[in-house]
Amino acid sequence: MIRFGFSRRVKGPNRQEVAGVLEMLGTNSIVLVGLMGCGKSAIGRRLAACLKLPFVDADDEIEKAAGKTISEIFEDHGEVEFREGERKVIARLLAGGPQVLATGGGAYMDAETRARIAEKGISVWLKADLSVLMRRVSRRDNRPLLKTGKPSAVMARLMEERYPTYAKADIVAESRDVPHEQIVSEIAAMLIDLRPRSV
Ligand code: S3P
Repeated sequence: MIRFGFSRRVKGPNRQEVAGVLEMLGTNSIVLVGLMGCGKSAIGRRLAACLKLPFVDADDEIEKAAGKTISEIFEDHGEVEFREGERKVIARLLAGGPQVLATGGGAYMDAETRARIAEKGISVWLKADLSVLMRRVSRRDNRPLLKTGKPSAVMARLMEERYPTYAKADIVAESRDVPHEQIVSEIAAMLIDLRPRSV
C-alpha cells in the first residue's frame, strides 16, 4: 500500500453537523476555559475556523480596553483590578455571539462570569496535565502569576485550586500533545452530541 504524506488526516465535522452546531448555538458562544498553556487560543482559533465563526481572545480584548499589556495591568493596578476589568470585558463579549471565545485562566473562577457563561454559552474545559502546561508556558514570559513563585509549583497549586471548578464546564476535552486538529474534531464531536435531536 502506498501512503501519501506523514500524518493521517483528522476527520472534522461535515457541513450538516456544522450547521446543526450553529443552529444550537444561536447567538450564544463557545467559551474555552482552562489553565494557562492549555491551548485555549491555538485550539479556539482552529475551532472557530472549522465552524466558520469569529474567534475572540478575552485577554487581547482586556489589553485593548486598558491600553496596557496584562503584565502592566497586574503591575500598575494589581490582580483585583485586573479581575474587575476581566469580568466586565467578558460580559460585554458574551453579548456579541455567536463566536468562539477564549478566556484567561482565572476568568471561569469568578462566580458571576461563570453564571454569565452558563447563560450565554457552552463552556469547554481544555484539561491538560502539568508537564504539558509547563512545556507550553515556558515558551513565553508574559504570565504575571507564574512570577509569584517557582512556576511549576504555582501551576500545580492552581491545578489543585481550579480543576474542581473547571470541571463544571459543559464539555471537557483532553488537551495533550497531538495535532490541534484532533482536539478540535473531538470538541466538535462533543458539541454535535449536545444538539437536541428531533426523533
Ligand atoms: C491568568 C491567565 C492568563 C491571564 C492572566 C491571569 C490566570 O491568561 O488572563 O495572566 O489567572 O490563570 P491565559 O490563561 O490565556 O494565559
